Amino acid sequence: MTYAEVRESARNTILNCKACPECNGLACGNTMPGPGSKAPGNGANANWKAWQEIRLNMDVFAPDGPVDTSTELFGRKLSLPLLTGPIGSLTQYSKEDVTIPFNDGVIQGCAETGVIDCFGDGLAPGVLEAGLASMAKHGAAAIPVINPIAMDDILREIEIVNATDAPAVSVVVDSAGLSIWSGGGFGSKTVDQLKVLRESTKKPFVVKGIMTVKNAMQAAEAGADAIIVSNHGGRVLPYAAPTAEVLPEIAEAVGDQMKIIVDGGIRSGADMLKALALGADAVLICRPIAVAWFGAGAEGVKVYVEKLRGELKEAMYMCGARSLADIGSEMIR
Ligand SMILES: Cc1cc2nc3c(=O)[nH]c(=O)nc-3n(C[C@H](O)[C@H](O)[C@H](O)COP(=O)(O)O)c2cc1C
Repeated sequence: MTYAEVRESARNTILNCKACPECNGLACGNTMPGPGSKAPGNGANANWKAWQEIRLNMDVFAPDGPVDTSTELFGRKLSLPLLTGPIGSLTQYSKEDVTIPFNDGVIQGCAETGVIDCFGDGLAPGVLEAGLASMAKHGAAAIPVINPIAMDDILREIEIVNATDAPAVSVVVDSAGLSIWSGGGFGSKTVDQLKVLRESTKKPFVVKGIMTVKNAMQAAEAGADAIIVSNHGGRVLPYAAPTAEVLPEIAEAVGDQMKIIVDGGIRSGADMLKALALGADAVLICRPIAVAWFGAGAEGVKVYVEKLRGELKEAMYMCGARSLADIGSEMIR
């Protein structure tokens, strides 16, 4: 099955998403609720466009040899520097709430391709527990990403994760800007609160939704082991900077203290190479994974990940990199 076939099949089953040949945030635009961006609806497209504008330098005299895309993250060996992104609720893509089967299929696809899934704790009870059960069932590495709910509730969820084999635990801080949420303690967290959350687990602690050097340094101060440079795919703040634009300065400031993952409009192996050359350790991709799952379940996820692997290998080869350690800023024009 090709990715084009996966997309074609998704097109007939998915709501509010046209499974476009290029997932660039244009057709979904201002659709929230839905998979688009916050009004006026150009944030996802701005993220995508910023990667498109970055050019790569060829290096044709590197010795011939196989390209190794493997890496290590949170003590786990990954075949690709890739994490799949959390979608807390699939109700925006489907009439029925398929969040639990979605997480199960994506976790399976990730296990079978050697990458890490990040799954959301969802809007419905039991989503976190079901994701953790899928992780165990598929022998996968999966990272639960907890929304900024009330502190006690986050702590309760971290305790559940602590009792599992999850490689890390994550809290997403920028979801505080989602207008569908309010009340019940949901909202922004301070650096002191982040410290409390960090101290509640021995697992690597990942903060998702960092867009400035200031916040990256504050996450480091709170003891985070990794940050995900992300503006939630343009869903929380109109006119937020594209992630590709802020990544280099954030990597420069905290790259030697913590792992840096970046998301937002990364759609190809060449984009992955650009992100690594700009200082990321790995990338996270979200919306195309939904398309892949709606198109062909775990198999669709595998097809998409293998497409990225092929593209990354080719781009690395042409830029003279035979392993991820060879990737550097000189590859960016
Ligand atoms: C419908 C939808 C739901 C999402 N739900 C979550 C969530 O529950 N938790 C979270 O951390 N991020 C969530 N995200 C954000 C993504 O994980 C990711 O950060 C963002 O979509 C950017 O990546 P992309 O451009 O590859 O889609 C959601 C995104 C979409 C489109």
